[in-house]
Amino acid sequence: MTISLDHPLFLRIASDLADHGWSQQTIFLPDTLTQALAQECQARALAGALTPAATGRGANAQVREGIRGDAIQWLEPGQSEPTDRYLGIMDSLRRSLNQALYLGLEDFESHYACYPPGACYKRHLDRFNDDDRRSVSTVLYLNQAWSAEDGGQLRLYLPHERQHEVVPTGGALVVFLSDQIPHEVLPARRERLSLTGWFRRRGASPL
Ligand code: OGA
Ligand code: MN
Repeated sequence: MTISLDHPLFLRIASDLADHGWSQQTIFLPDTLTQALAQECQARALAGALTPAATGRGANAQVREGIRGDAIQWLEPGQSEPTDRYLGIMDSLRRSLNQALYLGLEDFESHYACYPPGACYKRHLDRFNDDDRRSVSTVLYLNQAWSAEDGGQLRLYLPHERQHEVVPTGGALVVFLSDQIPHEVLPARRERLSLTGWFRRRGASPL
């Protein structure tokens, strides 16, 4: 399925990013696809395919549950029909953002994430010290019928001491500039499922 790069949702995300550095879309994916992705995430979790997430990268990677308590599995193309549809949609969003904002986004990496009850991810930026390719972060939520009392909000730290909290309701997408918006995941009372991803630009290389 090809989606127009001028789809109104894509254009709204691009203009929000240009204006404020972040965007929240309440209904990004059709319910059927969100549910298929949620089922797959749960099946992978039950099969033990998700592993505790680390902070840092390469030799600096460390599992520190008090700082980051989710379990993840990276996506590969060709694993399942819903996953491939999601990757196709995100690739269209990538090309749409490049067209609208000249961001030079080259690829997309993404993983399933499952936060068990009580798990959190303390305030951080999605940019490694030794790798500045991650440019735009995306989080797609997969839990149906989430309410504010369930916790698990994504808190964005915005300029001028402002904060914005996103309730992680299934089908919603949050997009933000990876190096500019500090954020944290508050502990949830229920298992919290999502697909997190990053559009990356080309890394610096010598002439
Ligand atoms: C991350 C992250 C936010 C969320 O995985 O880096 O900040 O709402 N996730 O799951
Ligand atoms: Mn993050």
